[in-house]
Amino acid sequence: MGEGGTVAYRILLIHGPNLNLLGDREPAYYGNVKLEEINARMERLAGERGAEVRTLQSNSEGALIDAIHDARLWADGIVINPGAYTHYSYALRDALAAVRLPAVEVHLSNVHAREEFRRISVIAPVVTGTVAGLGWRGYVAALDALLGLLADRREGEGGQS
Ligand code: DQA
Repeated sequence: MGEGGTVAYRILLIHGPNLNLLGDREPAYYGNVKLEEINARMERLAGERGAEVRTLQSNSEGALIDAIHDARLWADGIVINPGAYTHYSYALRDALAAVRLPAVEVHLSNVHAREEFRRISVIAPVVTGTVAGLGWRGYVAALDALLGLLADRREGEGGQS
């Protein structure tokens, strides 16, 4: 918590298409942990770090884009698993580029060790960094790194002298 009980950072956590089925869906790639458990862990971690996480899962590209636009008004950063949109959604990429918030791309599976089409991310060039292949722990790593980067940036801006 910051001064006066306010949260230090607000993070938008976005899960793209088919990630609502986590736990059930191809567990060899995506593990057994359900989306609600990942969200709960992220909210807990954020709370411990004086931050707040708001989550959204959608199977629709437009809803994801709207949420990214809306984040301009309230968020300090974004953690996003774009699902299959990773590989071809220029619209999602343009939305992330437009809002210019620090963002970390997460993939549960090691996309580089799977089909050829998964090796391409059209999102990667417009995010701060990417985590892949670490399962649900990748989200935790992404949030931890993002909060650290935001804190560095605030210090650099004179938040701490
Ligand atoms: C994924 C990888 C994508 O290729 C796939 O389409 C997904 C999930 C991952 O988390 O590993 O839906 O983003």
